Formats: sequence, structure tokens, C-alpha cells
Amino acid sequence: MSAQSKNVFNRLYRSAEHAEDLPWHEAEPPELLAKALDQRSAPGTALDVGCGAGTYSLYMAGRGYRVTAIDFMPQAIAMLQARLRDTELDITAVQDDIGTWSADRQFDVVLDIGCLHTPGTIDRHLYKQQLLKWLAPGGDFILLHFGRRGWWDKWPIGPGRVSANVITDLFQPELKLLEYQPQLRGGMPWFMGRSALIGRYWFQRPG
Ligand SMILES: C[S@@+](CC[C@H](N)C(=O)[O-])C[C@H]1O[C@@H](n2cnc3c(N)ncnc32)[C@H](O)[C@@H]1O
Repeated sequence: MSAQSKNVFNRLYRSAEHAEDLPWHEAEPPELLAKALDQRSAPGTALDVGCGAGTYSLYMAGRGYRVTAIDFMPQAIAMLQARLRDTELDITAVQDDIGTWSADRQFDVVLDIGCLHTPGTIDRHLYKQQLLKWLAPGGDFILLHFGRRGWWDKWPIGPGRVSANVITDLFQPELKLLEYQPQLRGGMPWFMGRSALIGRYWFQRPG
């Protein structure tokens, strides 16, 4: 992880009192996550990769999943633990780096909303090796990653941008792409290029 990215996260978490204050916060669960959970026969285990304040860990646990939530920022884990107080939800919060963490089990659902595309955080191929250890056969993997619209769509600040082909090629042949939802988002700061393509992916690992 680059020192620059860690400084950025430090600043963002320091200035956020609540999950809602974080710039990436979206209260609604990702549509593809809801869809993936809907088609599973029964709740099982889930891993929230780069969970932040744990908004989607809480959602998955609320749907009956036993959730492991991992983030390397202590402030993120503290925020999640504060939100867990006085609840009965089954969430284990782990402060660790996804590049080196080894899980003691596999998960039926793995969710990554905005972790892999963090600049300098983990090599994509190492991430895939880790993912294949985490995701159980028959498991669903939901990913949000900034997309790249062309050679010019590269900005020094903000999430790394990668074309949908690169993402789908990376996870094949072990994972099958079930759905891809691209969305052009405007209203971004000028230093992030004003707009960005948001790529949302639903992969499944054959059972
Ligand atoms: C953009 S935030 C998204 C948080 C959460 N998924 C959400 O959507 O609310 C990305 C999170 O990934 C975490 N992260 C980035 N690289 C990581 C790594 N190598 N290991 C663990 N966590 C990481 C950051 O600390 C940050 O909390």
C-alpha cells in the first residue's frame, strides 16, 4: 500500500464521525449484492473485503449471514464495532491487510466495494490468488471497480481505473461473469476528471 493512499484514508477517517460522513458512503446495498443473496438457497458465510465502516457487512448480517469484515484501517474497524454495539448480528471484524491475511475458512459470498481499486493497495494477480482461497465453490463474488473508457481515462488521484475486459479476463476461467453493470457517474471533483465509469460485477465460482 502506498504511503499516499494510507494518508488519504487516515485523513478521511479522521474527519468522519459517522459512516455517513465518509465520501463513498451509500446507504442502499449494491443491487447486484441483493440479487446474489436473493438467488442463494439459504444464508451462509460472507466476507466483506475492505469493509470500511461496515455498511454492507451489517446488511449481509441482517439477512442472516455470518460475516467476516476485514479492513486494514483501525478507524474503519472501530466504526464498525461501534455500530455493532447493542446488536445481535454475527459479524467478526478483522483489522488486517488483505494481501497477507489468511482466512481459516471459505465463504459463500465475497463482497468488494471499492477495495481492489484503491491505488497501490494490492497487485491484481495476488488479489485473485487470495480470492480463490476465500471463495467457496458455488460462491458469489460482487465487485465494484472504477472503469476505464479509453487511454486518456487515467487520473493520478482517486481509484485506479481499469477496463471491464481486464477485470473479466483476470478472474476467468475460475469465475464466470453473471452480470456487469456499468454506470457513468458525473459530479466528481476536477482532479478526478469530473466523471468516472463505475463498473459493478457479479461473478460466480462454479460448484
Ligand atoms: C472506498 S473504501 C470502501 C469501504 C466499504 N467497502 C464501503 O463501500 O463502504 C475502501 C476500503 O478498503 C480498505 N482497504 C484498502 N486497501 C486495503 C487492504 N490492502 N487491506 C485491507 N483493507 C484495505 C480501506 O481502508 C477502505 O476502508
